[in-house]
Amino acid sequence: AYVITDPCIDVKDGDCTIACPVDCIYEGGRMFYIHPGECINCGLCLSVCPVDAISWDEEIPQGRVQFKAVNQDFFGPD
Ligand code: SF4
Ligand code: F3S
Repeated sequence: AYVITDPCIDVKDGDCTIACPVDCIYEGGRMFYIHPGECINCGLCLSVCPVDAISWDEEIPQGRVQFKAVNQDFFGPD
């Protein structure tokens, strides 16, 4: 699944939610989160984020890898 990372914090542009065809991006507190079970891996959200906060979960930049768990934890166990 795709993962939202720290540049989203307090930016919350929201364009990713418009781009997502399955509405699996949710607002929560200081950032948005992608539901890992609902994301269809289309990649459409990636290019619209003005702060490049979104990554494929196997290509998360160094220092942001923990956000895979952060996105997962936001929704709890399936
Ligand atoms: Fe939505 Fe596609 Fe982004 Fe997944 S990759 S969050 S399905 S726009
Ligand atoms: Fe955040 Fe970027 Fe979406 S700032 S809300 S991940 S468009």
